[in-house]
Amino acid sequence: MIRPFLRSAVCLAALIASGTALASGNQHPPKEVKWAFQGATGTVDRQAAQRGYQVYKEVCSSCHSLKRVAYRNLTELGFSEGEAKTLAAGASVQDGPNDHGEMFERPGRLSDHFVGPYANDQAARAANGGALPPDLSLIVKAREDGPNYIYSILTGFEPAPADFKLGPNMHYNPYFPGMQIAMPAPLSEGQVTYADGTKATVEQMSHDVVTFLQWAAEPEMEERKSMGIKVFIYLGIFTVLFYLAKKRVWKDVE
Ligand code: HEC
Repeated sequence: MIRPFLRSAVCLAALIASGTALASGNQHPPKEVKWAFQGATGTVDRQAAQRGYQVYKEVCSSCHSLKRVAYRNLTELGFSEGEAKTLAAGASVQDGPNDHGEMFERPGRLSDHFVGPYANDQAARAANGGALPPDLSLIVKAREDGPNYIYSILTGFEPAPADFKLGPNMHYNPYFPGMQIAMPAPLSEGQVTYADGTKATVEQMSHDVVTFLQWAAEPEMEERKSMGIKVFIYLGIFTVLFYLAKKRVWKDVE
């Protein structure tokens, strides 16, 4: 009599246990972060984006390219033309061929696009244990909930639980699909020194670099938003005008 009851109780307990085990083995949804660029009137925080550029340049650019951004674009971030020129000149760009038919290296110019760390994808994979560090130009738009997702990955590295099977050269990160990623945690406290005195915590650097990448992915965002607002104001005024005109035209009828 009591046996079947016991058995179903055990089954139920096992089910619940496996359910929670499964739950702990699922990819976490991204953290919800506040961004100045969110919403219909949101803008890119220039100060944050400049700090983010520094993080990209000093940390991420050793593995990730940013091919769609040109040095000249940095002036849109609030760098002066002179500063952008200096930043460009710091890069070595392959050019050519010269009169002898040879390729050569020269300092970057404003019109050059950011120089990537590897000659090609194969070289990038070879240097990263077979995994390809994606170009970051459009990554914010290429991933669902991009800003929160990338922020979560950058701040989401933690020791793997004892029962987690980590692949060779993989790093535990519950915000990445499969919960392990070939990228080693790129940021650690105090990794960059900000000129404006902002404290370089992992959260701060992640927030800044995502702000920078948001701008890189959609440099025309602010223009688009302000155009949208203008269109609404325009439509609003016309609605009122047409309504008044209609009342006037029809005032003797009815
Ligand atoms: C040592 C090299 C290295 C550095 C430094 C590095 N990454 Fe990565 N990153 C990788 C590799 C390799 C992958 C591919 C991971 C995979 O597919 O498992 C990757 C993947 C990513 C992804 C893609 C996630 C996705 O959904 O595909 C993002 C976003 C990213 N990195 C951002 C950054 C940012 C921002 C920085 C700088 C703060 C940075 N990375 C620094 C090697 C690096």
